[in-house]
Amino acid sequence: METNAFSNYMFKPDWARMWEKGIRTAWADDMVVRHGSINRAWDNYADEYENGEIKFSNRADLLGKIIEPGPESVLDIGGGTGVFAVPLARSVKRVVVAEPSEGMLNVLKDKAGKEGLDNIVYVMKRWEDITCDEAIGLNDGRPYDAVLASHSIYYIGDLHRSFLKMNDVSRGFVYLFTGCSGYMRDQSYEKLYLVLHKKPLPPYPDYSFLYMVLREVGIQPDIEMFEARVKRPIKNVQELVNRWKNYLNREELTQEQEDALSEYLSDKVTEEDGRFFHCYHCKNALIFWKIEQDGAEEGS
Ligand SMILES: C[S@@+](CC[C@H](N)C(=O)[O-])C[C@H]1O[C@@H](n2cnc3c(N)ncnc32)[C@H](O)[C@@H]1O
Repeated sequence: METNAFSNYMFKPDWARMWEKGIRTAWADDMVVRHGSINRAWDNYADEYENGEIKFSNRADLLGKIIEPGPESVLDIGGGTGVFAVPLARSVKRVVVAEPSEGMLNVLKDKAGKEGLDNIVYVMKRWEDITCDEAIGLNDGRPYDAVLASHSIYYIGDLHRSFLKMNDVSRGFVYLFTGCSGYMRDQSYEKLYLVLHKKPLPPYPDYSFLYMVLREVGIQPDIEMFEARVKRPIKNVQELVNRWKNYLNREELTQEQEDALSEYLSDKVTEEDGRFFHCYHCKNALIFWKIEQDGAEEGS
């Protein structure tokens, strides 16, 4: 008779499902309700994303963290408006961008065109719908020196397979940039959330869930924390308050709610040379791992 029968019943959390469900509850379901699909949401948001968020954030500065000397080819999954693809294309031989939103791709193509960059290959597809052969085929049949997914992992399904595919198409590194607000929450936002929604801010999943999913497929990545700084141009505080009301889908707030919202947002507005910006910073995580030459993940 087996003595360790109970080990079969060990508690095993479903990290991938908890991550996907958490992201949906936190914001992705709302994107679908407002725009019809995640894709349409990014189509509609593309210009604002580029001009209102990316242009003034410190995201492009992070390139130094990921680019080991001299990669020839980089695959950028969910590359968006090209915060990494454009500067990368200036120095590497080929950048392949897998990006399902036509609106985001159009902004990227426009930027690349203005710089005369002709070494970016565009694939308008979700990562889940691209096979390893197709991805490698786009790089003349060779695995990439680096594979990158910056803040796109929230929308990529089938996590186990998606991570393995990233691993399989790389011969150098895989880098994932992601938020990590789960357990390090902004207390002033928690206070505001309670006033606005009459319930505590629900827990969000964070990078640690991704780490656990990677472990499940035999990958043991490194994790580095850093500070992400976002700066969005605004007309004034009232415009920002109105934007948030719109985002909350509420025309009317009680006086207490309106005051709480104004107080919270006023604290995050700065003025520079007569221009106003909504500024905030938060911790982000860089999860990365090196691929062994034979294709197995290092250390696994
Ligand atoms: C927050 S933006 C990040 C864009 C860019 N990587 C950056 O750091 O600015 C998320 C991007 O992921 C893309 N995306 C959504 N679903 C995806 C999927 N299943 N596969 C690949 N990319 C996806 C969106 O279209 C969007 O451009």
